[in-house]
Amino acid sequence: MTRIAFLKPDGSLDCEVDAPEGANLLDVAQAAGQPLEGTCDKSISCSTCHVILSPEDFAAQPPASEEEEDLLDLAYDVRRTSRLACQLTVKGTTMSVRMPG
Ligand code: FES
Repeated sequence: MTRIAFLKPDGSLDCEVDAPEGANLLDVAQAAGQPLEGTCDKSISCSTCHVILSPEDFAAQPPASEEEEDLLDLAYDVRRTSRLACQLTVKGTTMSVRMPG
């Protein structure tokens, strides 16, 4: 199990949940009530699942595909550790996932 801290755009804690390793991060975030629409159903054609990872979690994930990079270019509040949650799997003991704002 991985303990995931979901943070508000200002960096304060919104909630913490436990999720199994390998679960899709967008599914977990939506189940935890996070404001990620995920309108393209994980087909990498929207950016409504954009999240900002901690530097450690960002480094632990496989690199983004070219399609994901292109979409992130269009997202708001993009940071160096931005990713699309629908392309990420839960891994590690803890994760810290901030909503853009
Ligand atoms: S749900 Fe559309 S890109 Fe992730």
